[in-house]
Formats: sequence, C-alpha cells, structure tokens
Amino acid sequence: YLPFTRPNLIEFKNSRSIIISNVIFQNSPFWNIHPVYCSNVVIRYVTILAPLDSPNTDGIDPDSSSNVCIEDSYISTGDDLVAVKSGWDEYGINYGRPSSGIVIRRITGSSPFAGIAVGSETSGGVENVLAEDINLYNVGVGIHVKTNIGRGGFIRNITVSGVYMEGARKGIKIAGDVGDHPDENFNPNALPVVKGITIKNVWGVKVLDSGSIKGLKNSPFTGICLSDINLHGVKGPTSPPFKCSDISGVAYQVKPWPCSELTSSQQTGSCSTYV
Ligand SMILES: *[C@@H]1O[C@H](CO)[C@@H](O)[C@H](O)[C@H]1NC(C)=O
Repeated sequence: YLPFTRPNLIEFKNSRSIIISNVIFQNSPFWNIHPVYCSNVVIRYVTILAPLDSPNTDGIDPDSSSNVCIEDSYISTGDDLVAVKSGWDEYGINYGRPSSGIVIRRITGSSPFAGIAVGSETSGGVENVLAEDINLYNVGVGIHVKTNIGRGGFIRNITVSGVYMEGARKGIKIAGDVGDHPDENFNPNALPVVKGITIKNVWGVKVLDSGSIKGLKNSPFTGICLSDINLHGVKGPTSPPFKCSDISGVAYQVKPWPCSELTSSQQTGSCSTYV
C-alpha cells in the first residue's frame, strides 16, 4: 500500500500561457497531462499512448483551469481520453475554482473508459465546455458527464457535437452517482447542480448499450438536450434504449428514442443551452 498516488506525466500548476505541441507522451504512471489552476493553455498535435489496461492513465485533464484548447491529437490510454475536472469533494468546494472556456476538438482515440468526459471531480464547477469533431474507436463510454453526491459544485453549458463512435459499451452516460470520495469527510448534502448539457450530431456503430441519463433525486439535472443522434447496435439496428431518471430536457431526432423525461422538440434540431 502506497500513501501517495502515482504521479502525473506532466503537471502545470498555477501557470498561464502554455503551449504543449508536437510531443508524444507514452506509458504515464497516472494522468498524462494535467494543467491545474492554469489559464490560456493550448495542447495540440500530441500523441498520448498507454496500455488499455493501465489504471488512471487519463489523457488530458484540465482541472480548475480556464481558456484551455485541446485539439488535433490522438489519445489511446487505459482511462478517460479527455476529462474536465475542478477538484474533489470538500477540497474542491473549499478551493472553489471552476474550469471554464474549454474547447476540445478533432480528437481521435480509444479507451476502455470515456472518450470525452466531464468529471467526476467537479466540485469547483465546470462550465462553458465545447467538444466537437471527435472520433472514438472501442471505448467504454463515448460521452460521459459524471458527478456524485458530496461533490457540490456545478456542471453547466456543456456542448458535445460531432462525434463518431465505433465500438462502445455505452454511447452516452450522464450520471450523478459516479466515482468515489477522497475520504469520509465529504458532505452528503453537497449536491451538484447540473444544467444545460447539449449532445448533438452523434453517429455510433456497434454500440452495445445506448446508455443512461440519470440525475439526482434531490437535484434533478435540467436542460438536457439530445439532438440528431443515431446509435446503431451490435445485435439490432439500434442499440438498446436509454434509461433516464431525475432529468428534464428535450430530444430531437434521436435513435433510439431516449425516454419520456425528454420531451420532443419540434424546433430545427437546435438546443437552447438553458431549457
Ligand atoms: C456556453 O459555452 C460556450 C462555449 O462552448 C460559450 O461560447 C457561450 O458563451 C456559453 N454560454 C453562456 C450563456 O455562458
């Protein structure tokens, strides 16, 4: 038993105006690239490789950082490819620094966990995230927004658009009960507020399960919008239906049809951010 975690491969802390480009990161013991308390960060033309069975080898984790652009990169690791975070339970709540203004685009990769993730450590809040033009091959969960009781904080104004996934255990998952706690001192009344998540233009093939969209009973997730989504199954023409609870929002041209919690939108397929 080690009293410390394995280290990040590269971690910038309290830094600004950083460019990381044209680098190959290989076989990190933990998260690969971790900008924390940073602003104005560009990460592009990087290749990140770690064995699919290596634990916690997230590709890029912007953490309590603002104005971060991650683009034109290939990531194949044993954990989430890109995960936007902002601190863990009582520690993140106390520090209170959100991640905001995060652009993730033209990323290709494979992972047994998530392709594009927000969370699960979002206690300082995560807002204004745009992920677009993402290609995923053999992933655990294509798009995963995740938080937990005790996290507090917020997740709002998240847009994921233009995703091709081929081979996924789950297509889309939004969940309020994911990830564990740093210690026993987390506040069980610190409920995250999740509002304004748009997922659109997603094409999936060989998607074993469409996934689930589940908020918290005492903090339902609102403004969820799914539009122009087509998930093809492994066994049937569409993957098995979404499971939903404690959420509200709209859906437009989604296959399989999501669930009664999302009302049909007859607009032009556009999601207004805060429904
Ligand atoms: C939502 O986030 C996008 C970036 O993805 C940003 O351009 C937009 O201004 C944000 N909207 C609000 C209401 O903050």
